[in-house]
Amino acid sequence: MAEAKKLYIKTYGCQMNVYDSERMAEAMGGAGYVETSSPEDADMILLNTCHIREKAAEKVYSELGRFRPLKEARPDLKIGVAGCVAQAEGEEIMRRAGLVDLVVGPQSYHRLPELEALAREGRRALDTDFPVEDKFDALRDRPKAKRGPTAFLTVQEGCDKFCAFCVVPYTRGAEISRPAARVLEEARDLVGRGVREITLLGQNVNAYHGEGPDGGIWSLARLIWALNEIDGLDRIRFTTSHPNDMSDDLIAAHGDCEKLMPYLHLPVQSGSDRILKRMNRSHSAESYLRLIERIRAARPDILISGDFIVGFPEETEADFQATMDLIEAVNYGYAFSFKYSPRPGTPAAEREQIDEAVKSDRLTRLQSLLTRQQRAAQDAMVGRRVKVLFEKPGRLPGQMVGKSDYLHAVHVRESTLRAGDLADVEITESGANSLAGRVCLH
Ligand code: SAH
Ligand code: SF4
Ligand code: F3S
Repeated sequence: MAEAKKLYIKTYGCQMNVYDSERMAEAMGGAGYVETSSPEDADMILLNTCHIREKAAEKVYSELGRFRPLKEARPDLKIGVAGCVAQAEGEEIMRRAGLVDLVVGPQSYHRLPELEALAREGRRALDTDFPVEDKFDALRDRPKAKRGPTAFLTVQEGCDKFCAFCVVPYTRGAEISRPAARVLEEARDLVGRGVREITLLGQNVNAYHGEGPDGGIWSLARLIWALNEIDGLDRIRFTTSHPNDMSDDLIAAHGDCEKLMPYLHLPVQSGSDRILKRMNRSHSAESYLRLIERIRAARPDILISGDFIVGFPEETEADFQATMDLIEAVNYGYAFSFKYSPRPGTPAAEREQIDEAVKSDRLTRLQSLLTRQQRAAQDAMVGRRVKVLFEKPGRLPGQMVGKSDYLHAVHVRESTLRAGDLADVEITESGANSLAGRVCLH
């Protein structure tokens, strides 16, 4: 038997890219590749890229530069670029970085083995089509390797919302939902391989409207209820949601569905109606606040997280204050915040831009408020008993690390625990980025 070739994958961007990288590794497994964690001994290097902000895209080119000496030493080494930068800048990557052999967009990565074969023959290997066949179907024959306790599962992909700042509708294409039966099949397979927590993924995951096994259209809530029935699956999460797709049945599920975790990522971007309009968000600050109230009525202890953009074109100090007010009103448990980054091809990139220093100042103020809220939410866990799903050993001897229902990292010193154990933990300490506690025996 020929020795297996080695594939090194580096993943940038969102959780969907993490999921996609796993699928690409599996597809290449069929072509005789095994994964390696070091680029030095790889026969193929694949960067799975993100185009969301300028810095993310630039990282790809600088990383490629770092691989140049490897390629010069071993001309046999194949270098590929996948993901959203591949989709947005396919030809440009081939031109700008002469060492790239292969470019594959997020919708055609099931064709990766063919592309690799073309590249080995020295032929052009670029595929950024939105093909008619279903990539998920093409990837069905999976190896049955054991998995860790948590997994991502893409159920919806793409976006039709066209926020004025965002590249996703261009890089991921139009919104599609996978049939519910396929999702359930994949979930059962994951559970059979040791997974106890599944995070359903989609760019607008709550817009899910997949074909149901009964021929009808299933909502995300309906899908979650079906997943709730799977024995051996303990936890269900989903991300990312759009405020306009937060349907009544999904809100209710947060109250009633036992395995659905009390954590919701619900980006709002800005608290100013004027800016929300310019962003083409099609919701107001008020409607978002009312929605949060309804979600909290269904599940009072739910932890809400969000995404924010500061320095969007035309944002005044008053608009920024409105965002600060909204943050005060919501009280976030976790948040991601960014300076607006103009993206080629998006409407807002053409507008007059806010000064970089003003953006930086606003981001600092916003992050200090969000950090305070985040800390308070974490500190409030001290003295409480929470369920923790343990994932791996910690840095100290005998230490295990896992996540609480609220997605806080929790570590304990309990040598008898194993990855995949779900235990009640009493929280005793709140550290910089994690909680510490001890396992309750009763
Ligand atoms: N589909 C999700 C998230 C998309 S990208 C949603 O609709 O919420 C993740 C986050 O990146 C966004 O929520 C937004 O806060 C941020 N983002 C997207 N485009 C950006 C840009 N051009 N500049 C700065 N931040 C951006
Ligand atoms: Fe981007 Fe807006 Fe779609 Fe989210 S909803 S992916 S921010 S266009
Ligand atoms: Fe980035 Fe593409 Fe995800 S642009 S955030 S990798 S959808």
